Amino acid sequence: MCGIVGYTGRRQAAPILLEGLSKLEYRGYDSSGMAVLSGGNITMYKSGGRLSELKRITDNGSRPAGTIGIGHTRWATHGAPNDVNSHPHISKSGKFAVVHNGIIENYLDLKLFLTEKGFSFVSETDTEVIAHLTEYYYNGDMVETLRKVVNKLNGSYALGVLSCYSPETFYAARKDSPLVVGLGERENFIASDMPAVLSSTRRFLLMDDGEIAAVSPDSVLIYNANREPVEKTPFIAEWDISAAEKNGFPHFMLKEIFEQPHALDATVRTRITDGGIILDNIALTDEQIARIDRICIVACGSAYHAGVLGKYFIEKLSRIPVETDVASEFRYRSPIVTDRTLAVIISQSGETADTLAALRQARKLGARILSVVNVVGSSVARESDDVLYTRAGPEIAVATTKGYTTQVAALMLIGLKLAQALDRIDEKDYKRICNDLIGLPEAVNKVLENNIQQLQFIASKYYSADDAYFIGRGADYALALEGALKLKEISYIHAESYAAGELKHGTISLIEKGSLVVAIACDDRLFGKTLSNIKEVKSRGATVIALCSDSSDALRAECDHVIELPQCGAETYPVAAVTALQLFAYYIASARGCDIDKPRNLAKSVTVE
Ligand code: AGP
Repeated sequence: MCGIVGYTGRRQAAPILLEGLSKLEYRGYDSSGMAVLSGGNITMYKSGGRLSELKRITDNGSRPAGTIGIGHTRWATHGAPNDVNSHPHISKSGKFAVVHNGIIENYLDLKLFLTEKGFSFVSETDTEVIAHLTEYYYNGDMVETLRKVVNKLNGSYALGVLSCYSPETFYAARKDSPLVVGLGERENFIASDMPAVLSSTRRFLLMDDGEIAAVSPDSVLIYNANREPVEKTPFIAEWDISAAEKNGFPHFMLKEIFEQPHALDATVRTRITDGGIILDNIALTDEQIARIDRICIVACGSAYHAGVLGKYFIEKLSRIPVETDVASEFRYRSPIVTDRTLAVIISQSGETADTLAALRQARKLGARILSVVNVVGSSVARESDDVLYTRAGPEIAVATTKGYTTQVAALMLIGLKLAQALDRIDEKDYKRICNDLIGLPEAVNKVLENNIQQLQFIASKYYSADDAYFIGRGADYALALEGALKLKEISYIHAESYAAGELKHGTISLIEKGSLVVAIACDDRLFGKTLSNIKEVKSRGATVIALCSDSSDALRAECDHVIELPQCGAETYPVAAVTALQLFAYYIASARGCDIDKPRNLAKSVTVE
């Protein structure tokens, strides 16, 4: 997704913008640029390609001179990733420059309107209409001007706007795309995400939809859609700055895989007490729990996969019916949601557009919203009735790992809480599962200690595969979903996940000599059935890599490789198993020389629909 940084203060803006944009690279982008205002003139540098290109043409930020500017990394939605389509975009007279994250859905109508008013366009982007609209509506009052501009926009936007008529003040606005204001000492910032300016400040104002900010070195004024001043309490980012650095690891993804024991411990330990499960920020009472007759789990990508695992766990323990949907489908299938529905919204970033839209629809239909989110203060968190934060810390790699495993652990805590409130779990099982959850960091550590060499060896044998099939039953199938996504998103190998029992209904026609099959056979209850499916694919020439808890002679006799995982709880083993799948994908992608932390076409937070 696009990244925005803005600065006004006493220091030169260009190096600050470059540093901020480099901290936003993880969001995914394909071009970048900046505009700096000095002496009444806006100077712009921008180019397609990596940020290194912008560093080159700005001589590593030594130009352009000026103490107020806006910067942007672009994830192309309209128009090729080239110099012309890069942001900022400048208005006809050169008096206004704009950077934008989001999609303007009515940009063609606005382009026609502006063309009739004598404006011409140089780019293929939707954003350029905002620059010209600003010029068209400018009446000396930038806040009023921007109100008129945003009232013409349909779609989503986070905006940074420079005006030649405001030598020290730049402007910002947001709707459905994230934007924060950083508060410095006689200098202030805007950014799409806090890590961009964390080296300069930990104090932030979190902008809400419809708000417009006037940002000056000594003041930040925020107005709502009615131009009423809005007072906000600064949010203090507690993050350790080094958490957003690689600390010696070759990739953020590997670092974050190794951070999982700590992230799991931070997510689980303080919430399991002798007195029961304590879910901070959750006001759901036992009486309200008793009224729940349906749970809808809604998310995207890996968060959805965590939700599928959560479904198995929550239904098994609480006996409340649970549905799972990808957010982009939930919104349009006329879901059955009432005031007795609990909507569980899962999102690492808390800014995924489809997920946020699904949250709003579920609320409109009467559901209570409980979200599982990693980024504190994110849009999903702020729009929920209850929030269970995963305490994974900043996750930089586009491919989520600790974000996913802590989501699974959080969903298990929710399942335990519901089952306990409904008196549907006996003391023995409750204590067993609590102990297994507390033991998860150790279980993951064992995978990191015992299985890495074998996974590296296997990756060295199969990294040139064109296709891979991940199969499993029950919770193993939910793991297969995540294993396939991890592999394809960072190694670009085509990978499918299939319910093992479903193979014979079609997909098995694709299995031939040498087909790579990853069979997840960790659920002891279903082991025999999964072994039969392994035999089915083996008899057609497949190469089978099996993941299991207890390898048996039968499994070893059938499979080409058996990855034996540490002993885990019957319900909690997926968290340890997925660590092996993450490492498998990582080492394959590494052997293929892929850009592991920033895979092509992907973004860390998909803030467009
Ligand atoms: C997972 O590795 C991907 N990066 C992607 O599927 C991600 O899980 C999805 O976009 C949801 O993101 P969120 O958790 O921030 O909402």
